[in-house]
Amino acid sequence: MGVSASGKSTIGKLLASELRFPFFDADDFHPEYNIKKMASGQALNDLDREGWLLELNDLARREPNAIIACSALKEAYRILLRKDLSKEVHFVYLKGSYEQIYDRMTEREGHMMPVSLLQSQFDTLEEPSDALTVSVSLTPETIIKQIMNEINPKCDFGLIGLGVMGKSLCRNLINNDVKLAMYNRFVAGVEEGVAADFKQAYNLDSSAAFEDLEQFVESLNTPRKIMLMVSAGPAIDHIIEELVPLLDEEDIIIDGGNSHYSDTKRRMEYLNKEGVHFIGTGVSGGEEGALKGPSIMPGGNQQAYEQIKPFLEAIAAKDKNGKPCCTYIGTEGSGHFVKMVHNGIEYAEMQLLAELYQLCRFGKGMQPEQIADLFESWKAEGLDSFLLEITANILREKEDDKYLIDLILDKAGNKGTGNWTTVAASQLGFPATMITAALYARYVSAHKESRKQAASIFRFEKSSALDCSLDDMREAYRVGRIINHHQGFELIRSASDTFAWNLDLSAIAGIWTNGCIIRSELMERLIEPLKEALPILLQRDQLTILKTGRENLTALNISGLKAGFNLPCFTAALNFLNGYTESKGSANIIQAQRDYFGAHRYQRVDDHSGKTYHTVWSN
Ligand code: 6PG
Repeated sequence: MGVSASGKSTIGKLLASELRFPFFDADDFHPEYNIKKMASGQALNDLDREGWLLELNDLARREPNAIIACSALKEAYRILLRKDLSKEVHFVYLKGSYEQIYDRMTEREGHMMPVSLLQSQFDTLEEPSDALTVSVSLTPETIIKQIMNEINPKCDFGLIGLGVMGKSLCRNLINNDVKLAMYNRFVAGVEEGVAADFKQAYNLDSSAAFEDLEQFVESLNTPRKIMLMVSAGPAIDHIIEELVPLLDEEDIIIDGGNSHYSDTKRRMEYLNKEGVHFIGTGVSGGEEGALKGPSIMPGGNQQAYEQIKPFLEAIAAKDKNGKPCCTYIGTEGSGHFVKMVHNGIEYAEMQLLAELYQLCRFGKGMQPEQIADLFESWKAEGLDSFLLEITANILREKEDDKYLIDLILDKAGNKGTGNWTTVAASQLGFPATMITAALYARYVSAHKESRKQAASIFRFEKSSALDCSLDDMREAYRVGRIINHHQGFELIRSASDTFAWNLDLSAIAGIWTNGCIIRSELMERLIEPLKEALPILLQRDQLTILKTGRENLTALNISGLKAGFNLPCFTAALNFLNGYTESKGSANIIQAQRDYFGAHRYQRVDDHSGKTYHTVWSN
């Protein structure tokens, strides 16, 4: 619809061919009388148009799938046109100014509507409020794209990979009214009809399910937004290879798995050449987070991110001010880097709790439920966190009359992100000692058979008379966590400086306050101070805690080690604190040794010029 010469016939024909619908030009349905009247320079009135509109309405009844180009200038005309139609009617209003249309009309030859009638068309026009309004100044192709996006039944977002996380994210998207296309591969006898079964099981009527990739891609509006929730590693490259020939320029692929940040950068560069955007995003929160609101850490091209932002923000957890726990992290693989460090911090947070559990259970002789009570009491002491809470819950869990924790094999698994964090820290020259210690603690635990053998040979006893207090434990835990967060955030800062990512540490803390595994009260408290460039350990808020807490941390370590316990994370925390706060350390010996055997040279304390020295050592 629109005034004469707004381009109805051109657009209508193109649209009809796109949809494979018949096209009808309402001008062809005017009675002789109307045509003559217009040709003589007189405008039609309501009465003149009535019969014509009724005939068009009749046509629409006979041709339920059709494109009709009709001026439909007044609301009353449109009501008449759509009267008693059983199918949905979409009005597309081609809007232009008088001047724009006038120019077009003067260029047009042989049309029954004289230019002199244009003003009466505008006088009669009542702009529709319920139509898709499209500017006539756009190219016909763009107009068709806009119309197709509005009226066709295509989906707005696609998700590939219906594993546990993928399914939860799908439900989250659908709960947030996203028109979703879901795809899971077909593997005969193993993965068959996964998407369709899932759709049926959860009554996800508004979504579309596929196991044919081409149909899945076809079902999406452009630019397509496709989220991959497949296992990190070669599976990502594989699906990208399958997707690329099916995609158009400007389409966006989002990798929501725990991919390595350098793989993300490589994939981004490759897809860039194909004109396709790639966003590597961290998603934290496990199955429940994915369903109810995860913390989301997207990185890559910012313009591409802006297009997926509404979807990611809709499904993200919300912080205490109602803001989505999702923020653009930075370019390249920075989103995945930040997620990787999140997991590293997670490793150390988990390990601290595991060490505390050991000390309480076997050094203090407490029952799991008593330890759960203790941990819960710490929530009121500024130590509340998701991991503390779930650990207390774990310790209360029973199977018949046995604590479940006693039935779980003490052999820790890992999926690699802690390893990557340790390697990245090492490559960047940053001492993430607690993450490393937590990772290695898992590795030690994994050698269960060797441990059993060694235990039977050495027969070391653990003393059940641990002489640090429960208060020491609480304060040592507080200090250990601060050091862990310091190391994690400084590692991010170090990567940000090295790769010129310009990351906002405070914003990262902000999106880690809800949805993710390391959400905690401490994280909330870090948002403000992280706005300053000061490392956490040097922030005023932490000084008193660290000064007094160091004594508790020392007491825990001394008594724990003396009693025969393995405390990799707590000792790493204390060693780091001691090393970080000493202005004079022992590295002069290292430098001298290096110079002695390799002439690697050293700097002197009495020469600040940066000059290096070599000594011809006398022996
Ligand atoms: C999260 C978790 C999640 C996953 C870990 C487990 O943020 O939701 O970190 O990513 O649970 O990858 O890692 P491990 O198997 O290495 O412990």
